[in-house]
This record gives sequence, structure tokens and C-alpha cells, in this order.
Amino acid sequence: MDTLRNLLTSLQQGVALGHFNVADLVLLKAVLAAAVEVEVPVIVGASEGERNFLGTRELAALVKVMREEHGVPVFLNADHTHSRAKAEEAAKAGFDAVVIDFSALPFEENVSRTKETVEAIKAINPAILAEGEVGDIGTGSEIHETVHSDFQNLTTPEEARQFVDSTGIDILAPAVGNMHGMLKSMVQGKTKKHLNIERIAQIKKAAGVFLTLHGGSGTDDKDFVRAIAAGINIIHINTELRVAWRRSLEGSLASQPNEVVPYKVLPPVVDAVKQVVSSRLKLFNAQLTSDERVLAAG
Ligand code: G3H
Ligand code: ZN
Repeated sequence: MDTLRNLLTSLQQGVALGHFNVADLVLLKAVLAAAVEVEVPVIVGASEGERNFLGTRELAALVKVMREEHGVPVFLNADHTHSRAKAEEAAKAGFDAVVIDFSALPFEENVSRTKETVEAIKAINPAILAEGEVGDIGTGSEIHETVHSDFQNLTTPEEARQFVDSTGIDILAPAVGNMHGMLKSMVQGKTKKHLNIERIAQIKKAAGVFLTLHGGSGTDDKDFVRAIAAGINIIHINTELRVAWRRSLEGSLASQPNEVVPYKVLPPVVDAVKQVVSSRLKLFNAQLTSDERVLAAG
């Protein structure tokens, strides 16, 4: 299997890697099944909370076996990591990338803590990719009542350039109109997230590194296509999977009130999550013609 860096470098025009968070084996099976079905590479992500539940080394072992079993490249990312110790733990466990997230700290402190952590994980594995984050995209892949207070404060191209130059990160996660989680109206399909495409293009030019779009759930499909064209290389989706997980679990339990066998209750949940992942992977990997891309960009 090629490295994540090589894969990112060789991405076709208009294609981004899908990154999907997992917190249990049901979600992991669903993400893998979708990647196998669509026949594209995928990134499995687990935040600190998700790793605490699943086990950092346990997840790495599961993904290693799945890589060997299935024909698609599967990469593993330690998502939203808030300490050097947790980043080192993931690097030692064999993760391909770490999202070093000190974005809640003032800019200078974010720079120094990120830089120190980049150096620490690269000392463990020189090939590991380090992602840093500048700007506020809110917290929690959950259903929110309101958008977070800093929602309109987008990352500036100058901040992005300075941050990349002074930290040595390989990938940048900016705030470009995205936010973690979904509003109730988004879950109901009544509203969508919209992105600042021009700002993405400016940041790409200024920073010159791979860009990740966090908070992908509930984003307008056309905005995804335009964001990829403007320079986004990786897209994170979590809440959409969690919503499908919960709804299908409730449905499966309700339709089999006396069933206690997990492997009879859980397959419909794997299937429901897989459908969400498949449809996102198809969109992120659509080989649009240039005419179609212009049309999609509206
Ligand atoms: O790191 C995880 C993602 O940014 C997920 O965001 O829950 O809004 O899809 P989301
Ligand atoms: Zn995120």
C-alpha cells in the first residue's frame, strides 16, 4: 500500500479523500464496506474520545488486519488530539496521521504546542503526517441547538501561511464556514452548511500544503465539489454517520423487540452507516468532466 503522503500528492483533479470517524466496530465495518464497494481509498479517523472508547492500539490492530483482508487502501488518523502525550501514543501505535488540535489556545501558543508535537511524532515515525488547526470550527460531532459564537471568524490566508511556516505541519485544517456537528434543521434536511470557497482558494495559495475540511456533515453537495476544486484534499464526516447509527439501531431494536443476539440486531446498522459513507465517497471521488465541474460550481 502506498503512503498517505503519496496518495494525497497524486489525487486527481476534483477528488478528495473521505475521512470517517469510528467509535465502535459497527462504524468501522461500515466504513470499510463502503470503501470496498466504491473501490476508493479511505481514511478511518478516531478522536481522543473515540480512541479512549475503542482503544488506540486495538483500533490500529483492527485496521491493520482490515488492510490485509480488503483490496482498498485504508489509512488511520488520530483525529483532534489535544496533548503531545496522546499524539505520541497514536504515532507509536502506527497511525498514519495525527490532527494536532491546540486551536482553542491563543495563536502563539497554538504555534508552539503544535510545533513541539509535530517534532515529537516525527521523531517516532518520520513518515507520519501532522495536521494543525487554526480558527474556531466549534466542537462536538453532535446535534447542536445553535452555531458556535466564533462561527463568522474565518482563518485568514496570512494566519495560515504563518502557522504552516512556523510549525512544520503537512496538512492544515482552516475555518472556512465549516463547523463541527449539525443543527436540528440540518438533520431534518431543511438547511445545509455553506462554505467560503474564495477563502479556501486564498488559504491554499498562501499556505501551500494539503487542506482538510472538518465538520463536513450537512454540507451542501455543490459546496463540497467547489471546495475540492478550490484546494480541499481531505473531508471529515462524523455526525451524519452517528445519526444513521442511532436511527437504524432504534429501528432494528424496535422491529425485533425480543431479539438479544447482537449479530442479528447490528447488521442493519452497519448497512445504514455504509450507505451514508458510500454516497459521500462517490461524491468526493466523482471524476467530473470540466463542464460538469463548472455546472456543479453553479
Ligand atoms: O473531525 C471530525 C469532523 O470534523 C466531523 O465533523 O461531525 O460535522 O461531520 P462533522
Ligand atoms: Zn474535526
